[in-house]
Amino acid sequence: MWGICSRTMVKVGMAKPCGLVKPCHLVKPVSVTRVSGRYLTHQKGLPALPIPPLQQTCERYISALEPIVEVDELKNTKELLDEFQKAGGVGERLQRGLEKRASGTDNWLSQWWVQVAYLTYRLPVVVHSSPGLVLPRMNFRDKQGQIRFAAKLIAGVLDFKTMIDNETLPVEYLGGKPLCMNQYYELLSSCRIPGLKQDSVVNHAKSPRPPKHITVVHNFQFFVLDVYNSDGTPLTSNQLCVQLERICSSSLQTNMEPIGILTTQHRDQWGKAYLNLIKDKTNKRSVSAIQRSIFTLCLDGAMPRGSEEMRRSTAAVQMLHGGGSQWNSGNRWFDKTLQFIVGEEGMCGAIYEHAPAEGPPIVALIDHVVDYTGKPETTRCPMVPLPMPQKLPFNMTPEIKKDIEEAKHDMNILAEDLDMRVTVFGHFGKNVPKSHKMSPDAFIQIALQLAYYRMHQRCCATYESASLRMFRLGRTDTIRSASNASAAFVKAFDDLNKQNTEKVDLMGKAVAAHRSYTNMAISGQAIDRHLLGLKLQAVEENVSMPKVFTDPAYAKALHYCLSTSQVPSKADCVMCFGPVVSNGYGVCYNPMENHINFAVSSFNACEETNAARMAQAVESALLDMRTLLEQTPRAKL
Ligand code: COA
Repeated sequence: MWGICSRTMVKVGMAKPCGLVKPCHLVKPVSVTRVSGRYLTHQKGLPALPIPPLQQTCERYISALEPIVEVDELKNTKELLDEFQKAGGVGERLQRGLEKRASGTDNWLSQWWVQVAYLTYRLPVVVHSSPGLVLPRMNFRDKQGQIRFAAKLIAGVLDFKTMIDNETLPVEYLGGKPLCMNQYYELLSSCRIPGLKQDSVVNHAKSPRPPKHITVVHNFQFFVLDVYNSDGTPLTSNQLCVQLERICSSSLQTNMEPIGILTTQHRDQWGKAYLNLIKDKTNKRSVSAIQRSIFTLCLDGAMPRGSEEMRRSTAAVQMLHGGGSQWNSGNRWFDKTLQFIVGEEGMCGAIYEHAPAEGPPIVALIDHVVDYTGKPETTRCPMVPLPMPQKLPFNMTPEIKKDIEEAKHDMNILAEDLDMRVTVFGHFGKNVPKSHKMSPDAFIQIALQLAYYRMHQRCCATYESASLRMFRLGRTDTIRSASNASAAFVKAFDDLNKQNTEKVDLMGKAVAAHRSYTNMAISGQAIDRHLLGLKLQAVEENVSMPKVFTDPAYAKALHYCLSTSQVPSKADCVMCFGPVVSNGYGVCYNPMENHINFAVSSFNACEETNAARMAQAVESALLDMRTLLEQTPRAKL
């Protein structure tokens, strides 16, 4: 079993985590400033990811376990940790090994991380790993509108790509410190390739002749669309519109084999099916064209009609998995790092394969695209005839057809199983916690703790992704939102014997503890990635696995019943993802100034969880916390 990442999973027995040591209100979130200077110079100037002191991690690990394991389990783990970290013990040896590794690499964790969290993770990328993103509903309702919007979207992405290519992307800052920009260089022209036991990622942006085409998929048929003129200028939206019309009119058949559905499979199965698929040279060329393309644009067919209340949730399902084989799940290549989805009735968004990047760079790109699509076209179309977009042929064999049937069947079970609820919490946003001098993110996380406790009468291991991008090639670490302070607060909240003054004091402490963990995580001093590193170092050095990593408490610590992430954006979007354990929730949120967008998921097969009830519980928790704050004078924190 695994827990989620930065929205991917980490094997149980492996951890994932992230923190800054400044008063929280001084920590500015990611802000964008233009700076001059080339990518490499910038990257070289970033600090290396630190390795926290062993004793610090062991102490913090025990505190993190306290709210989620039993007393006797905790006692046992303390004994194991004493043994692990004693002078001359295996812990010290592994710590030295990690330090040596760090001295010889740009980032001691990054390569391990991609392998462990993503490429050796074998559940389907769909729902289990790749996040979807829902854009605000666009102002079109017919095919023409769909095509026109898609053309502008492509032009917007190409505009962003120019900044990547010229290395003029604005450097981002967190807490006044510059962030690693590497992920931006991994988003385009890259693709995951299935393997039999482990996958890989190829990035063609760095090849001597980088690709000049995107792939467009319509009615399950894939097309290569060149998006640059012969003089190297990107096609204008008008030119792209013409090309997309040509694609749509040459792919009107709706009964094609959905070859893309193969990418929804369990990775071992897809690995086998892939070898079989590319045995045929034509298929191999077609697959390679998709893999090499800058990105994929999915022009979707209809989705099931639902109530207006469920519109956003249906859109999230469309972005996350396409709705099943009878709808749009086959209208994708899920291995592609970036796929933009344009629906028939104004529903738009994206899905990305998680191995190369986290949500924030994707959202920055999408914010740029949304801005771009809102502006009038300024570039004139060169009067040159454009080559016809090429349809990618696939030769079907009975074996490939059988693999497709199996993939359809499995995808439909997964689609049926996922319960997704997107809600807009409209009562307040970041404004209310800020007015009470609290970190909005910490306030929301503590509300999630309260909601979970009210629904399940217990605290659970909770994952929130924290950015490690202050460090070169940094990805994420884990903020463990369930703390002793949060447990004390959630247990007291509905206790009629407690005074409101005590409750509000406990809330302040819980929020402050969360922000303090966040600071610790983004400054590279959290526990999860360090524990993972020590474990992997044991494998590397071939020493017998220390008992701290086979301890049931470690498995409990990594069984994230709440897997959460804040992904803020300028546009009114929301990102969404699936739960990382069968009895868990996936919760992604975008806190805007006056409202908060939430996407909550769970699995229908689990009787104890329910996405709609959880979403409702989160809303009540936020409202109840505000009421408590407003009704109770608070001692100075
Ligand atoms: N009083 C008043 N205002 C406060 C405050 C306080 N005590 N604490 C924070 N604020 C303000 C901040 O200054 C900021 O203001 P702004 O909206 O004007 O910019 C705002 O509240 C938000 O701060 P906060 O809620 O504390 O969160 P954050 O923006 O620092 O983000 C994380 C916290 C953990 C989400 C962020 O550090 C991070 O790591 N993000 C990456 C997540 C990621 O990688 N996700 C990937 C998913 S695939």
